[in-house]
Amino acid sequence: MDILLLGFGAVGRAFCELLEERSSSLRKVLPKGEEIRVVGIGTRTRGCLYKSNGLPLSAVLDWESKTGKLFGLEGVSCPNDSESLVEQGDYDLLVECTTSSLYSSAPIARAIKKALDRGKAVVTCNSTMVYRHYFELKELAECKGGALLFDSAVVAGTPIFSYVRHFLPAVKVSACYGVLNGTANYVLEMMEDGATLDEAVMEAVRKGFAEKDPLLDIEGTDSAIKASIIAQALMDAPFQALDDMIIEGIRNVTPDMLRKAKKEGGRVKLVANIRRGSSSVEISVKPEIIPSENPVSKLRGASKGVIITTDLAGEVYLASDGFGPRQMAYGLLRDSIEAGSQKMGPCN
Ligand SMILES: NC(=O)c1ccc[n+]([C@@H]2O[C@H](COP(=O)([O-])OP(=O)(O)OC[C@H]3O[C@@H](n4cnc5c(N)ncnc54)[C@H](OP(=O)(O)O)[C@@H]3O)[C@@H](O)[C@H]2O)c1
Repeated sequence: MDILLLGFGAVGRAFCELLEERSSSLRKVLPKGEEIRVVGIGTRTRGCLYKSNGLPLSAVLDWESKTGKLFGLEGVSCPNDSESLVEQGDYDLLVECTTSSLYSSAPIARAIKKALDRGKAVVTCNSTMVYRHYFELKELAECKGGALLFDSAVVAGTPIFSYVRHFLPAVKVSACYGVLNGTANYVLEMMEDGATLDEAVMEAVRKGFAEKDPLLDIEGTDSAIKASIIAQALMDAPFQALDDMIIEGIRNVTPDMLRKAKKEGGRVKLVANIRRGSSSVEISVKPEIIPSENPVSKLRGASKGVIITTDLAGEVYLASDGFGPRQMAYGLLRDSIEAGSQKMGPCN
């Protein structure tokens, strides 16, 4: 399976490192004789690389860490821009890990549409892009025989969508409830221990959990975007503008409230609640006191987890304490293997 990688920041780099590190394990899960090769890498400002029989990843990683750029690596062609790579490159799967932006997802969505239009499979971790363009991309993937996989766009480390696809076939999901933002969870826990909101946010930024703009975490916007992806992908709900959801972040949560909740046996969590009503799917994100018997109350640090309510399998709880580029990259890798197996027939 030949991959075109769009984005070579922390996640793109971690993805290539994982491919190098786990090459022998990967050979065991891929169909006999198949291998994963990265044939192209595109960035916005630091150049692009292309080699039809596979890029030498360790040399690419080494070159980028020494020079800070991609172009100029000997023996590898350097196309002018990533768009032409997407449009003309020879590859099976586009792995997209570019910058996620609430207000400018259109250029990346355009690139993804071009790949899907060519019948390519696409794996992405870009939550705002999936949130805004889910239905049109899904339709295009179905119509052109490609695939669109995005487990890493919602809860890195917890394969919500592939779990439902593989282990809960034909269920109807009526609700999904839980913590979708690890930074908010981490900040609330630090505040329980006496930190102020600002101190806790600074620590989350330092540890690398937080979004580039931590306000998205704290004000609940990131959770709402992810909740809407769940609503669209698992509950077939239409796109909802952020203004149409109830979104309350953790700014008004006081240390007193946290301590009181803990004393009473519960914990305050920033909870995303996605629920099918009589005529629509409603989404809310707000701080709630969760009683100790609810597993969501036990999520520690930057962990995230959800309870999915189904008609045939009851309630299923999925959680993970993973975060950071390596976890995101692993989610992309998992989806890539699935995309590859779909294209190349069942694994042996
Ligand atoms: N890092 C994490 O722990 C983490 C956690 C949660 C979610 N994520 C998500 O994962 C994705 C990647 O994160 P990251 O930390 O790797 O970001 P990053 O370090 O900012 O890297 C983004 C990469 O995308 C490239 N890029 C941006 N726009 C592009 C375009 N239009 N065409 C081609 N390339 C483009 C950038 O090019 P240049 O190199 O030229 O700037 C850069 O290589 C984001 O969607 C982010 O929200 C990351």
